[in-house]
Amino acid sequence: MSYKDQIDLTKVPQHVAIIMDGNGRWAQQKGEERVFGHINGVDSVRESLTAAGEIGVKYLTLYAFSTENWNRPKQEVDALMDLLVKTIASEVDKLNENSVKLQAIGDTGNLPESCQEALAGAIENTKNNTRVTLNLALSYSSKWEMTKAIQEIANQVKVKNILPSEINEELISSYLSTGNIPDPELLIRTSGETRISNFMLWQLAYAELYFTETLWPEFKKENFFEAILNYQNRERRFGKTSEQISENE
Ligand code: FPP
Repeated sequence: MSYKDQIDLTKVPQHVAIIMDGNGRWAQQKGEERVFGHINGVDSVRESLTAAGEIGVKYLTLYAFSTENWNRPKQEVDALMDLLVKTIASEVDKLNENSVKLQAIGDTGNLPESCQEALAGAIENTKNNTRVTLNLALSYSSKWEMTKAIQEIANQVKVKNILPSEINEELISSYLSTGNIPDPELLIRTSGETRISNFMLWQLAYAELYFTETLWPEFKKENFFEAILNYQNRERRFGKTSEQISENE
């Protein structure tokens, strides 16, 4: 039986986040430039998005470019930005056909103009879609996001719109760039690295973490379904005991 056939469609995570890793190594193994890995990584983005739609995952967040990635060689950064612009432009019709809504989180004002324009256009163009929300983390880091949220909350406290005693988990969540979407229940990281790398530190508090050796350009639909199945076979306790969980079922 395929992994997909074994998935319990009544227990699919609402939100899956992915750290897409291993493009460079995959390309180097093939004797190619790193950019070749990123280009092939776009196919895996399509595969995961399609897989998410097929089983009813409502939100898919992809770590496409971190704040730290700006430190890569200029040639690679330029190629990644170019790939993003081209991919967004060429995929927007398909996003609409499949009712995918595009969103972005991160310091997107740092992206090149062409990239910001392509992104804003595609976000506007897909805003009424309802099947899956594709949330791209671009120029994103969790510490940047939390710092910005704290600054905004502090400003609101200063002008007395918020009392310090009103600052709670819900309010903090609402000031993050994911304020309008639920926290991920599952984080997938490819390529054998077992770090969170400054990604959604607040939102991943209770997420299940799934690490696979598969390099991102080789991560296809069945790999996505395998991760979902692995998630479904875990017991999520949120600090409770196993007995408390089974009593409530
Ligand atoms: C990590 O591999 C991958 C990235 C930093 C970029 C991911 C980008 C894409 C898959 C293409 C564009 C995406 C979209 C959403 C259109 P790495 O370069 O860190 O690999 P390495 O660890 O082997 O060096």
